[in-house]
Amino acid sequence: MTANLAAMPEAATAPTTSASPAALPHTTPVAPELAWSDALSLSMPAMDQTHVEFVDLLAGVQQAEDAELVSRWQALVEHTEEHFAQEDRWMLATGFAPGSCHLTQHAVVLKVLKEGLDLGHQGQLQPIRQMAHELTIWFPHHAQTMDSGLALHLKSVGHDPVTGEIAQPEALPAEAISGCGGSCSSDDGTSPSGADRHAQKEAA
Ligand SMILES: [Fe+2]
Ligand SMILES: [Fe+2]
Repeated sequence: MTANLAAMPEAATAPTTSASPAALPHTTPVAPELAWSDALSLSMPAMDQTHVEFVDLLAGVQQAEDAELVSRWQALVEHTEEHFAQEDRWMLATGFAPGSCHLTQHAVVLKVLKEGLDLGHQGQLQPIRQMAHELTIWFPHHAQTMDSGLALHLKSVGHDPVTGEIAQPEALPAEAISGCGGSCSSDDGTSPSGADRHAQKEAA
C-alpha cells in the first residue's frame, strides 16, 4: 500500500464541482502498468488465479475509455471484494485475529476503491485513473508480502482452499495471530505509513 493510495479518500472527497458531468474534463486511457508474471505467483493456484483475474481487470480499467471506465472499475471493485473476502475467510479459519493487519489492510483498500466508485458514478473519473495507477504499485507489494505470508501459513497447516479442511490442525497457532503472520516488515505498506496509518486516522 502506498501512502498516496491511503491518502486518496481525502483527495477523492474534496468538494465536488458544480459543473454538470458533461462539462467535466475527459480523462485519458493508459497502457497497463502491471502485467502478470511469475514474480507474482505464490505457488498457490487458488490465490494465483484470483490474482491473475485482478491484474487483468486492472489492466482493463487502465485501458478503458471514459465511457467504460466506471463499469470496468465496478467490476474490479466487485472482484476485489470477493478476493479479499476469500483471503479473510482463510485467515479467520486458520488462526488470524479479526483485527490483524492483513485483514485491516483489505478493509481499508476496499473502502478507498468503493469511494472511487461513488465518485465515478458522480461523473468524476480522474480519481479512478489515479487509484488504478496506485493499485499497480500497491498490488505487487501486497502480494509479495502479506499474501505470500498467508500462502505459506496456509500451506503450513495443510489448508485446502476448496474444502476448507485443515490437514495439520496441530500446526494451527495456539494464540490468534494479531500481526501479519510473519509477513510484515518495516516496509510492508501497513505501518507506520500507508493503510494502517489511514486506518488509525479513521479510528481516531
Ligand atoms: Fe490477494
Ligand atoms: Fe491480501
